[in-house]
Amino acid sequence: MTIIRDQNTPRGDFVFYSDRVIRLLVEEGLNYLPVVSKEVITPMGVPFQGVTFEGRICGVSIMRAGESMEQGLRDVCTSVRIGKVLIQRDERTAQPKLYYSKLPKDIADRWVLLLDPMLATGGSAIKCIEVLLEAGVKEERILFINLICSPEGALTMLERFPKLQIITAEIDEGMDEHKFILPGLGDFGDRYFGTE
Ligand code: URA
Repeated sequence: MTIIRDQNTPRGDFVFYSDRVIRLLVEEGLNYLPVVSKEVITPMGVPFQGVTFEGRICGVSIMRAGESMEQGLRDVCTSVRIGKVLIQRDERTAQPKLYYSKLPKDIADRWVLLLDPMLATGGSAIKCIEVLLEAGVKEERILFINLICSPEGALTMLERFPKLQIITAEIDEGMDEHKFILPGLGDFGDRYFGTE
């Protein structure tokens, strides 16, 4: 996190270390899925009382920055389905507006790992969760995975969706007047995709 927060970190390192954190967050998120007991027999011929996840998952990335987290999910979940949503601020109303969404058809039966690296005001994430709920996803089956939260953003989301689970690396101090997280790491999408 120190490396990716450093303004002097070159892009290659920013991507490399962000990917490492994302992978850890996705692995941690999978620990929140419910499991049932499962017995297997080890090569020693001895039973082992383990666990297994019997549900199904999918990812949903909030474009564009959330797309940076898709590979981390693919790395740990083989052939995982990944939906996408594009939400942007409507200049007329100043409210987040849905421009595009493409979700797995059976998303209502799945656990959803919602991917967006920076939770600032929560405007886009709230809009995205509304879209997921309309598609039939259960609130308690949404795991929101991000690298950095503002305290305001995290509180707003949890007040609005009390059964939502947020998996984050760090909760920062606040936001500036442009709603950038402080101390933060700047614009994640620009640094990750090299569009600064
Ligand atoms: N999105 C970013 O990329 N950075 C912030 O600080 C807030 C939102």
